[in-house]
Amino acid sequence: MRTRRPLIAGNWKMYKTAAEAVEFVRQFLPRVDGVGDRDIMIAPAFPALEAVGGALKGTAVALGAQDLFWEAEGAYTGQVAPRMLTACGCRYVIIGHSERRQYFGETDEGVCRKLQAAVKAGLVPVMCVGETEQEREAGQTFSILDKQLQNGLKDSIADQLASLVVAYEPVWAIGTGKTATAAQAQEAHRFIRSKVAQMFGSALSGAMRVLYGGSVKPENISELMALGDIDGALVGGASLKPDSFANIVKFD
Ligand code: PGA
Repeated sequence: MRTRRPLIAGNWKMYKTAAEAVEFVRQFLPRVDGVGDRDIMIAPAFPALEAVGGALKGTAVALGAQDLFWEAEGAYTGQVAPRMLTACGCRYVIIGHSERRQYFGETDEGVCRKLQAAVKAGLVPVMCVGETEQEREAGQTFSILDKQLQNGLKDSIADQLASLVVAYEPVWAIGTGKTATAAQAQEAHRFIRSKVAQMFGSALSGAMRVLYGGSVKPENISELMALGDIDGALVGGASLKPDSFANIVKFD
């Protein structure tokens, strides 16, 4: 018996126009009809949010965004404000994805500000953490996770983080076909939960969902979900096809 309700989230990155995204939803919804014991989220690119939000309205599938900016509005060319996301029907927002850290200069400080802005707007933050291959080889996995969590969550208060989701995504496993072994994933997830317990207490850390991300597929989801501290998955490539994502959602 699980203590936390699983969450299976699809991160569509820079794939799918609005029309392609809506077509996915049309094919996907019947495939997950009747799935009631887990949460499902899809995070399309910004230009598809409104259309996908419309297509998901009244269904059990939630909408998420892939990023946001921390200011409420202003002269910030190219940025998207939290209330623009909620206006499209977003419930979740991914923050600090490793691709944002790697290619767009996202820092732990930025993650911290975005997290606060998301919570303030009523969005559930999906905060991404994870080490690179080099860091893992240098034995720094836990110190990196510690730093990302400490700095990213430092100005938060437990009350506001009631629905926090953390995604552990080892950078070396993203889009590479390499998945962390069950033991590697479980030990990282356990570390994340204990760090959050240390910062905010065991009620919050016990309720918090920790997702695994990095080459999750229909073939490996059940093994991952069998581990005590894995509460769901953040899925990139394998979330782009309705059949493949539905099969991940329906893991047993
Ligand atoms: P992947 O991506 O499933 O394609 O490895 C996961 C992610 O980056 O969230």
